[in-house]
Amino acid sequence: MKDKNVTVIVGCHWGDEGKGRAAFFESKDASIVVRSTGGNNAGHTIVYKGKKYAMHLIPGGIIRKNVLSIIGPGVVVDTDVLIDEIKMLKEAGINITPDKLAISGRAHLILPYHKDLDRLQEVLKGDAKVGTTGRGIGPAYADKTNRIGIRAYDLLLPEEEIYAKVELAVEVHNRLFKAVSGFEECVVNPKEIVNKLVENAKVLREFIVNTDKIISKALENNDKIVIEGAQAYRLDIDHGDYPMVTSSSPNTSGTLSGIGIGPRYVDKVIGVTKAYCSRVGNGPFFTEEDNEIGDIIRKLGHEYGTTTGRPRRCGWLDCVILKSAKTTMGIDYLCLNHLDTIGKIGNTIGEVKVCIAYEYLNKVITYIPDDIEITLLKPTPIYETIKGGWRVNPKCKSYDDLPIKAKQFIELVEKYSGLPVKYIGFGADNKDTIVR
Ligand code: IMP
Ligand code: MG
Repeated sequence: MKDKNVTVIVGCHWGDEGKGRAAFFESKDASIVVRSTGGNNAGHTIVYKGKKYAMHLIPGGIIRKNVLSIIGPGVVVDTDVLIDEIKMLKEAGINITPDKLAISGRAHLILPYHKDLDRLQEVLKGDAKVGTTGRGIGPAYADKTNRIGIRAYDLLLPEEEIYAKVELAVEVHNRLFKAVSGFEECVVNPKEIVNKLVENAKVLREFIVNTDKIISKALENNDKIVIEGAQAYRLDIDHGDYPMVTSSSPNTSGTLSGIGIGPRYVDKVIGVTKAYCSRVGNGPFFTEEDNEIGDIIRKLGHEYGTTTGRPRRCGWLDCVILKSAKTTMGIDYLCLNHLDTIGKIGNTIGEVKVCIAYEYLNKVITYIPDDIEITLLKPTPIYETIKGGWRVNPKCKSYDDLPIKAKQFIELVEKYSGLPVKYIGFGADNKDTIVR
């Protein structure tokens, strides 16, 4: 239908699937690229024309000349990080003006005390800690829900009014900081926060707008909008591995809500997955290989966090999760990244595995059991195995150019996920992409 021109890019597992790259690829004929959930817990690396850009907040589309990048109301924004990112992009020769970057005035801000609270909560949780990125994401969303959040619009207020809001926001937090041993020095002086906000407002004020107006106009004009999801299905606060999740709704509907676009405008939803799985932080990961195999995957896939540098937990591709993502996230087709890496893994280990089902409570199932805390049983993955590996020719242009085993792998993924693989990434550069 003519009035559907929104593309949504979401992650199918635990993040780091290469959404930034897929969104960047899709943005080549777009007018607008949007971040609508999460914050600088995300980390996207885009390689374009031989140059590498590492970004946490601004959508990758910013690199393209005629694309407007929007940070939507559902995002939590650390103004220091945003300012650094703007600076980094300017130094890389990218012009950042208000017709290239718009920040919703309704987006909530991450302030230094949110990072302290993030740390405090992890300390109090002890062994039950989530393993957050420590960026203050959860506490910023909690303040938003408690209706004591500071928003981008507040940067535009007179200083006394910002002070009043910050003073109210930190009232309870300060009682907590005083009460928890080791956190006394985190007690917030509202004046310091206000000074920082006033300083940062000087840089950011020109970008803070009512993004609804821009989005409505683009939808009316049938301009293409790409939503660059952050985090992923299993990190979703409602649908993921609670409590080992993030604090936003990175599922497809959540990304739409985070910018304010109704579902009727969606043209396609692309689920992004790697050819294997990785997870940072704690929580279930049924196909994890916490052994030499995992070490080989980590090494060949360079699986270290872009945001925290943490080594990622690694394991085989889980198609049960993909199958479940198909309906929960309303995915039309997959973008499968690291097809080259999984081939190398196969060459090194001697085989490549794909999880096609689980054995759970003596049954073979193809859904994600969410009562494992009750049964105390972890599902055992059931695998299909391809013997050996392959090498993808870096010059390959089409699906037909791929080695037979690589095609076999893709066919397995399609069979057990129920989803067509439309994009295939076989290298870090944007050009290393096959579209089927
Ligand atoms: P938080 O989002 O910092 O609160 O962290 C909650 C959980 O989500 C932790 O397990 C993090 O490692 C994970 N997480 C958050 N953002 C990302 C991401 O962009 N990629 C991978 N994992 C993430
Ligand atoms: Mg990432």
